[in-house]
Amino acid sequence: MANNTLTITDNRTGKSYEIPIEHDTIHATDLRKIKVHDGDFGMMTYDPAFMNTASCKSTITYIDGDKGILRYRGYPIEDLAESCTYLEVAHLLFREELPTQIQLDEWTKQVQHHSLIHQNIVNIIDSFRYDAHPMTILISTISALASFFPEANNIFDAEVRKRQIRRLIGKVPTIAAFAYRHRTGMPYVYPEDDLSFVGNIASMMFKWGSRKFFSHPVLERALNILFVLHADHEQNCSTSTMRVIGSSHVDPYSAIAGAAAALFGPLHGGANEAVIHMLDQIHDIKNVPDFIKRVKAGEGRLMGFGHRVYKNYDPRAKVIKKLAYEVFEVTGRNPKLEIALELERIALEDEYFVSRKLYPNVDFYSGLIYQAMGFPVDMFPVLFAIPRTSGWLAHWQEMLVDPDQKIARPRQIYLGHDKRTFIPMENRK
Ligand code: CMC
Repeated sequence: MANNTLTITDNRTGKSYEIPIEHDTIHATDLRKIKVHDGDFGMMTYDPAFMNTASCKSTITYIDGDKGILRYRGYPIEDLAESCTYLEVAHLLFREELPTQIQLDEWTKQVQHHSLIHQNIVNIIDSFRYDAHPMTILISTISALASFFPEANNIFDAEVRKRQIRRLIGKVPTIAAFAYRHRTGMPYVYPEDDLSFVGNIASMMFKWGSRKFFSHPVLERALNILFVLHADHEQNCSTSTMRVIGSSHVDPYSAIAGAAAALFGPLHGGANEAVIHMLDQIHDIKNVPDFIKRVKAGEGRLMGFGHRVYKNYDPRAKVIKKLAYEVFEVTGRNPKLEIALELERIALEDEYFVSRKLYPNVDFYSGLIYQAMGFPVDMFPVLFAIPRTSGWLAHWQEMLVDPDQKIARPRQIYLGHDKRTFIPMENRK
């Protein structure tokens, strides 16, 4: 018998089956041959929330959740955060290699070329209410882009695909910044090509009047690091959404709108916003023990803590915590930091959190930095969506050229009624 197989005995029938193992994994469809009788559908696996199901093979991002390791294309996240610009990392995600200077200059030019948005897209942003959450503007406006670029439906043309990728990396920051300016009633600031990717975003958001806007180098570096850390995170909820929607062969704008909607939820990218609301609610360091008590009693969650994959300190949170101190040197300390540090201190010693392996995740300290930089709290998920756009698109592209992939279509276990006799309206009780 081959070593790389799994032998399963079905005690209902006494029959044994040999299932091949590849990459420590069995194909769920191999279980279908396990049947009680010929007409039987065959065995399925039940895995709500995909707790233990690999839905694809990928070469983009590696995570070891027990050891707290994160790598993009093999490079440790700490090295990329320290030394790379966000656009270098986006290039790495799409094209598998870090760019040479010539490649980076070309890639930057291509992205900048696509940073302007059509006036009718601006009109869509204008039509939102003054207090619309900027994430709702972003989601709707990205979806509307599909109508401006019908060629994007041609998803199996590699050149067309590349053009949509450049468009989205270029346009999403502009839409995000315009959403912010709309909310504040400020005139829109158009992209400037002589600024860095993150410097341009800061300019589009914060420029006041006609003078050129230069962001502080420490803050610009910090925003770049945050973007690098948020660029990808393998099969998370929004990236899986991107893959699922993309698997229907719809255009990438519609798929990204769906991915961004998944990111908006408080258990995912909306957690950075929820952390600040939680810290505001705790209000004072003396209220921390009582808050922890309530979390342990099941009355709400400690936002910014816990992760499906990390059962150790999230490596992104480690970098962000250190970064917070560098930012506060420039902006002054965010007064909520003391509450956050006390929450972390208690949680890391408390049996409830220790036994469940709950550690700070990427969202625990990032909001404190964004707030100190002057971003309003409801922009935080948008600041997550801008860099994650490259991760979503890298996975979309990988999924489309993967011969194993098909339209995503899970099974269910039907537990409803058996066939019933129809009841006309007059006989219903
Ligand atoms: N506070 C209190 N208890 C928690 C928390 C938390 N933040 N997270 C998990 N638990 C408990 C949970 O109640 C459960 O306890 P029990 O076994 O007694 O029922 C146990 O830990 C396992 O939790 P789970 O809900 O089964 O874990 P999950 O893998 O389904 O959820 C999570 C992962 C991130 C949704 C969850 O940890 C959470 O809700 N965290 C807070 C929201 C948050 O910070 N989200 C950002 C995630 S990182 C950014 C990103 O990539 O999206």
